[in-house]
Amino acid sequence: MSNQDETIVAAVDIGTTKVVTVIAEIRGKQINVIGVGEEENNGSQQGTISNISEAARAVKASVEKAQKIAGKDIEVNNVIASVGGKHLTGIKSHGVTTLTLSREKEITQADKDRAIESAKSMPLPADREILHVIPTQYIIDGQDEIMDPLGMSGVRIETDVYIVTGATTLVENVRKTIKMAGYEMDDIYIQPIGSGNATLYEDEKELGVLLIDIGGGTTDIALYHKNALKFIKIIPVGGKYITGDLVPALQTSKSITEEIKKQYGLLYEEDAGEEIIEVPDRTRTSTRPMFRKDLAPYIKYRIYELFDMVKKELKNEGIDKSLYGAGIVLTGGGAKLNGLLRFVQENMGGSVRIGVPLQEKVTGRYEVIDKPQYSTVVGIIDYFVREHGKNERLISSSGGFLTKTSDKIKKFLSEFF
Ligand SMILES: Nc1ncnc2c1ncn2[C@@H]1O[C@H](COP(=O)(O)OP(=O)(O)OP(=O)(O)O)[C@@H](O)[C@H]1O
Ligand SMILES: [Mg+2]
Repeated sequence: MSNQDETIVAAVDIGTTKVVTVIAEIRGKQINVIGVGEEENNGSQQGTISNISEAARAVKASVEKAQKIAGKDIEVNNVIASVGGKHLTGIKSHGVTTLTLSREKEITQADKDRAIESAKSMPLPADREILHVIPTQYIIDGQDEIMDPLGMSGVRIETDVYIVTGATTLVENVRKTIKMAGYEMDDIYIQPIGSGNATLYEDEKELGVLLIDIGGGTTDIALYHKNALKFIKIIPVGGKYITGDLVPALQTSKSITEEIKKQYGLLYEEDAGEEIIEVPDRTRTSTRPMFRKDLAPYIKYRIYELFDMVKKELKNEGIDKSLYGAGIVLTGGGAKLNGLLRFVQENMGGSVRIGVPLQEKVTGRYEVIDKPQYSTVVGIIDYFVREHGKNERLISSSGGFLTKTSDKIKKFLSEFF
């Protein structure tokens, strides 16, 4: 049996409001979800970890919950994790390599790697590290727009890449958190890559699509065009701000305000009519009536501000609609806000949809992860599978990336599904 049939991966997305773990069995490129666990996280702010011991507690609790659902035979030692926050930035770079004349002029993986290495060799401040190097095109002897030159003939290989870097200390804090929770971190991926990979169709990425992940503490923008990630930007505004704006209006606790926002929050007054809601006081001993439509102005204010920031970032980068012809995909928990789809349609134009992990990528417990707030965690597994599948080193059987499955577990899995 090949290694691919034996692999189980555990992915941990440390979000500003929650940590979510997905344990999945990898079958080829299919993600078979066998366990999901979520835990509230009070150890992060605006996408980065602010309290390692609290974040570690949440990581451990979420992994253990997922493990419990996956079955007692599943033991998680190694995980892949996500990193978020506005310190994540991308820059374009260019690399060149020339094949030596003594060689046959057929391009190999090693040649591609050399071109990428050359693109990576640019000055990087000491406090930053490279997280992703994404080739956007190869140019072979002057011919551009080549996605994969493997096996082609050529002498001069150039590549355009998009390099994502992060602040070393903040990336290190994710590692420390995972370690404190008792796990080994095998790989780390940025959150917008996770969200994009889970929710976007291949033809959207080809034509051009703008992903907007509205989380609790950040809103992540990612632009895909011609099948490659072209731009990311993390805006440090998310759903927590909306809740914060509503607290004085509702005159109750933050957690009750959060519940009210999720249940009744909306952007368009007319969608609420004359509906009256009852707002509990902070001790939940009495309630106060209010028109549901009165929530809208507060929420709208923050959403307008957020989308002004999104538009400003796109403008600064020279990104116009021609680069996202397939439209906009909204994901993250904030995408569930009533009226948001309409707002984005009216405010930004083009086609807009809500993104959840695509069903075609996932088997097993799809109905559990079929939600915008789980895009990142499912997507980092998808990215992991693609990256390691591509490099033909999906799994080291010596306990490297993934937790190996024993025959007993395999039997359990085959009975279960
Ligand atoms: N129905 C809803 N209406 C409005 N907002 C909602 C709704 N459901 C969830 N949210 C908001 O979504 C946010 C959480 O989203 P998500 O789980 O994607 O964030 P996160 O991953 O923890 O944070 P981040 O990605 O910013 O680090 C919260 O602010 C929550 O209030
Ligand atoms: Mg998130």
